[in-house]
Amino acid sequence: MASLGLVMFFLFCAIFQAFLVSSSNNGGLYPELYQYSCPQANEIVMSVLEEAIAKDPRMAASLLRLHFHDCFVQGCDASILLDESSAFKSEKGAGPNKNSLRGFEVIDQIKAKLEQVCPHTVSCADILALAARDSIVLSGGPYWEVPLGRSDSKTANFKKANVNIPAPNSTIQNLISLFNRQGLNEEDLVALSGGHTIGMARCVSFRQRLYNQKGDNLPDATLEKTYYNGLKSICPSSGGDNNISPLDVASPVRFDNTYFKLLLWGKGLLNSDEVLLTGNVKKTKELVKTYAENEGIFFHQFSKSMVKMGNISPLLKGEIRKNCRRVN
Ligand code: HEM
Ligand SMILES: *[C@@H]1O[C@H](CO)[C@@H](O)[C@H](O)[C@H]1NC(C)=O
Repeated sequence: MASLGLVMFFLFCAIFQAFLVSSSNNGGLYPELYQYSCPQANEIVMSVLEEAIAKDPRMAASLLRLHFHDCFVQGCDASILLDESSAFKSEKGAGPNKNSLRGFEVIDQIKAKLEQVCPHTVSCADILALAARDSIVLSGGPYWEVPLGRSDSKTANFKKANVNIPAPNSTIQNLISLFNRQGLNEEDLVALSGGHTIGMARCVSFRQRLYNQKGDNLPDATLEKTYYNGLKSICPSSGGDNNISPLDVASPVRFDNTYFKLLLWGKGLLNSDEVLLTGNVKKTKELVKTYAENEGIFFHQFSKSMVKMGNISPLLKGEIRKNCRRVN
């Protein structure tokens, strides 16, 4: 009798677990995927990142951005990592990516180690998702479980990289619609923009605000005066295109809610940052204020939105690349 009870109990557990996995709405992805097939996966990603970020603290930001730019173009399928080939044009050359994306060598390093320990097991797209999460953790931000099981695409989409990834001079309506197209709402937009609490941008990404915001040869009036003067010295009206400035001038390598506080003080770097507050959309404006006041709420929503962004899935079944830069 007792053993029948035990059997029933285990049966129940199994069914319940299947229910949890299927109802988690993660597009078939789940955090424990490599638990048996590559138990060292998390450790390997983390150890390579620890070294890379200690050497170059900005690398955390660069890796977070890689995952974002991957997911917005035909889903999170590592299409961003593919080098140019005879079959397709690389996304690396698209406007939002060219002379800007960093971190490809770090992904290569992680992939090489994983191929040694558990060959043909961990996808490049999953590496990007894990590297983004660990980069946030190593920068002082929140931890979340990363659903796993993405596969790598056999093609890239240069055109979509130009169309789907928002430009820095986007209006609030542009931003909302580009995020909506990916199944992301205004809460996701504001929280994920908080990724700009780390990292740098080039002069070309914010020059328009300093010299000719509306085609009238005037600066963006929302910029705080001393901040504006500092930016002009980094970014002249012509030349210095690749000079860089921190997206969060107060704590550029710390993942915190300072980005939102700076927005309230007129010290956001990009137009796309500024318009979250001043773009006349009540919802995004309120969220900026909420996250500026309460880092815990920001961290919670950021984690949730990162999982959501990480679940944007490709339409086609792909492969597990041996080398993240090319199809097998
Ligand atoms: C909302 C629309 C967004 C726009 C218009 C935008 C635009 C930009 C631009 C123009 C840069 C600087 C690139 C350069 O000048 O080289 C940048 C950097 C960055 N972006 Fe975004 N971004 C957006 C959303 C996001 C999201 C959702 C994330 C991640 C969750 C993110 C993470 C980053 C990071 C971390 C950097 C710094 C990278 C580095 O220092 O290497 N951005 N972004
Ligand atoms: C944004 O910049 C692009 C390229 O510099 C320009 O063609 C476009 O008109 C700008 N958009 C806005 C809304 O200012």
